[in-house]
Formats: sequence, structure tokens, C-alpha cells
Amino acid sequence: MMITSKMEQAFNSQIQKEFHSAYLYLAMSVYCETQNYSGFAHWLKVQYNEEQEHAMKMVAYLLERGGKVTLQTLEAPPVDYGSPLQVFENVLKHEQFITSSIHSLYETAVAEKDLAAQIFLQWYVTEQVEEEANATQIVEQLKMIGDKSSGILYVDKALEKRQ
Ligand code: FEO
Repeated sequence: MMITSKMEQAFNSQIQKEFHSAYLYLAMSVYCETQNYSGFAHWLKVQYNEEQEHAMKMVAYLLERGGKVTLQTLEAPPVDYGSPLQVFENVLKHEQFITSSIHSLYETAVAEKDLAAQIFLQWYVTEQVEEEANATQIVEQLKMIGDKSSGILYVDKALEKRQ
């Protein structure tokens, strides 16, 4: 069954959001690097790669369904992000926004009676639970630490290990 134009449009818009997420996390990674937080920078760079994978998986799917991929403009992300806690609060807020947009994409698939897209999107629904949990954990740790630089450096070091 060929994808409906409504679904096609909704997928294209989500592809834009995933690439924008990648771009945002790259900007945050670069920012952390300039602040000498190489672990946070590394974590965000891995996240940047993951977001590109999220987008590319949708690009491949849309093509597979005979849909038209229309890449959209990416807005320039900010340059400065404040303290490490502010960086990760920003990540969490962004992931919550992505979760709600994945949910509305899923709801569109339900409304369009697109069963195949619903199954495809289940992976994203599950992935968002993990995305929010990961960001929440870092936010909570940084909150506990407050402005103790030894604690911040400890978390920074720990995040260097992300695969
Ligand atoms: Fe692709 Fe972080 O959601």
C-alpha cells in the first residue's frame, strides 16, 4: 500500500526534526568542547550521530513506501548553552518535544489507518522512553552535584565512556 500524502508530509516533517536534533546536539557538543568538558562533548556527539540515524531510518522507510522525501531547511542552533546542568535540561526539554511529535506522528498513522507505519513507529516510541530516561538521569546527577566542580568533572569523565 502506497503511503498517503498526509503521512508523507508528516514523515518529512519528522525527518526535519530529527536532523534538527542532530544539528542542535552538534552545537551543544562543540560548546561543551570549548568549555573543556570533553566527556559531555563526546556524549553529545554520539547523540548527534544517533539523531542522524533516526532521520536516515525514516528517509529509507519513506522511500521504501514509495513516498517522496523532501528535505527541509534547518534552523541554526544557538551557540551558547550555559552550565552543564542547563545544557542537559535543554536536551531533556528537546527530547520531550520530540516524544510528543513522535506521538502525534503515530496518531496520524492511526487516523490514516496506516498499520505498517504504526508498526514502524513503535521503535521510535520505545526509543523516546530511553532518550528521556538518559537525559533525566544526567540532569538529576548534575542537580545533586550543584556547582561543585569536582562532581561535575566526575560526571563529565563518566560520560566519556558512552559508546
Ligand atoms: Fe531522535 Fe533524540 O530523538
